[in-house]
Amino acid sequence: MRRVLLFTMLASGAWGAPGYKGSAACKSCHAEISARQEASHHAGALRPMAATEWPERLAETDLRERSGIAYRYARVREGLRVTITQGPRTLEALLEWAFGSGAQAMTPVGRYQGAYFEHRISYYRSADHPGRTIGHGGAPAADPLAAFGVKQDATTIARCFGCHATNVGPGPELREMEAGVRCERCHGPGQAHGSRPAKENIRRTKGMDLCAECHRQQDGAGATPEVADPSSVRFQPVGLSVSRCFTKSGTMTCVTCHDPHQNARRDADHYRTVCQGCHPGAPVAAASACGRGKAESCLPCHMRASSPLQNLRFTDHRIRIY
Ligand code: HEC
Ligand code: HEC
Ligand code: HEC
Ligand code: HEC
Ligand code: HEC
Ligand code: HEC
Ligand code: HEC
Repeated sequence: MRRVLLFTMLASGAWGAPGYKGSAACKSCHAEISARQEASHHAGALRPMAATEWPERLAETDLRERSGIAYRYARVREGLRVTITQGPRTLEALLEWAFGSGAQAMTPVGRYQGAYFEHRISYYRSADHPGRTIGHGGAPAADPLAAFGVKQDATTIARCFGCHATNVGPGPELREMEAGVRCERCHGPGQAHGSRPAKENIRRTKGMDLCAECHRQQDGAGATPEVADPSSVRFQPVGLSVSRCFTKSGTMTCVTCHDPHQNARRDADHYRTVCQGCHPGAPVAAASACGRGKAESCLPCHMRASSPLQNLRFTDHRIRIY
């Protein structure tokens, strides 16, 4: 009986897939990459609420909805406690996880009576203020439980953890999890490589598929996905893969412009240098065809930023002539 049980648990990944070492084990040999990755928004995509500054930030704000529902926040040892009141009714619950590094937004996730909930209130960087979580609708909350948030079934919440963290088992099984998008989420389990380093025993992918596991791709998106659905710019692989740069070069991937171990560069010079790697005539073209001089950023004319969802900003990755 015991053997069968053990077998099923391993097969379902309940104890996490074998062979994970954790990112700390990569540091001794890959110090420089580790230092950059550790400081990235990928690494901060999920954190235990208790390890963040959010409890203090949220405790400072007095949130009240027109329906009379009020939220109060306080730090407790295990994370962030929210007390929701509506007239005589009160609900108290614990928010254990901070999803999103806060570069754009942070959404708390917690449990109530054993079920996971995505909290109704998120923090938005551009507004520097909490606001309604995207997708939660504008209708007033019927009661404190509805104000706590939207209940997530096990499959959905396991997917949330799976895109924001490393070594998550179905369930979700979080005991072996390393919070954030860390080394082994992209390179696979590193135990064998750590004890006998070789290129052959660690995964290194250059293609877009890895990034699209989380940044998402859409089959049959059409030639102008951003027209069909403006919010599709949130999913960079969708636009990029229908760009002429991508389809005609045959070599463009996400790492053509982004180092996967650090945040997106914010300086226009970086991207201009990349563009000119394939469009060497571009300063000339920019002066004639594009009508601009050498110092100009390529982005305002070929890769524009937009804000299809309130408080969030994305870059349209369908590189094109507007
Ligand atoms: C004991 C030292 C050591 C540790 C620990 C170590 N590596 Fe390496 N790693 C190396 C060496 C050496 C190479 C180069 C191997 C070669 O060129 O054959 C390498 C190469 C790599 C490569 C490139 C493979 C390729 O195809 O070019 C990746 C990716 C990598 N390591 C990831 C990791 C990750 C992730 C961890 C932690 C889980 C880790 N390494 C831990 C020493 C180490
Ligand atoms: C396991 C899921 C996952 C994978 C795989 C993944 N990402 Fe991400 N990525 C995220 C999440 C989640 C964020 C948001 C981080 C935050 O909360 O700010 C993000 C953010 C980013 C950002 C923005 C960082 C910034 O400047 O704020 C870039 C750029 C990026 N990813 C590029 C890539 C590239 C390139 C790849 C493939 C090599 C990749 N990602 C693979 C989940 C993933
Ligand atoms: C398929 C992978 C995937 C799943 C599932 C997923 N996320 Fe994300 N999440 C991302 C990526 C990639 C980003 C960064 C780019 C973006 O905003 O889409 C992100 C960004 C975020 C952000 C920062 C704000 C923003 O949009 O940049 C928050 C907050 C967040 N996710 C919360 C959640 C929560 C809560 C769940 C589950 C209810 C969830 N995510 C499920 C991949 C995922
Ligand atoms: C978001 C996915 C992602 C994460 C997280 C990630 N890597 Fe990588 N890593 C890549 C990709 C993609 C490449 C290949 C880049 C290329 O070939 O241009 C790469 C390349 C490497 C290389 C080969 C040397 C190089 O610079 O090309 C090493 C070593 C490495 N990663 C180690 C690590 C370590 C250590 C961590 C954690 C601290 C880590 N990676 C986290 C995606 C990731
Ligand atoms: C990996 C090589 C590569 C990189 C990097 C690259 N491109 Fe391209 N780009 C191409 C190719 C190939 C074409 C198609 C040329 C053709 O059709 O003759 C193209 C086409 C274009 C077009 C015409 C698009 C259309 O729909 O007609 C523009 C504009 C453009 N690129 C701008 C840029 C900008 C701006 C950057 C940097 C942000 C960039 N490219 C980076 C390879 C690249
Ligand atoms: C031709 C260059 C180029 C390529 C290729 C590219 N990006 Fe970007 N990416 C950019 C630029 C430019 C920005 C905006 C930088 C800024 O804000 O200054 C950006 C920003 C981002 C961001 C931050 C959120 C946003 O949309 O502004 C994410 C996430 C991201 N890229 C993911 C990806 C992924 C995933 C791929 C592969 C499908 C990819 N990028 C390929 C140029 C590129
Ligand atoms: C002020 C806006 C502007 C800027 C800045 C700009 N472009 Fe353009 N670009 C255009 C326009 C408009 C066209 C279409 C011109 C035409 O069809 O005659 C174009 C055309 C192109 C083409 C296609 C040329 C062809 O022969 O089909 C490429 C490639 C290109 N630009 C690359 C770049 C690169 C790389 C940069 C940055 C160094 C850049 N552009 C900066 C507006 C701009």
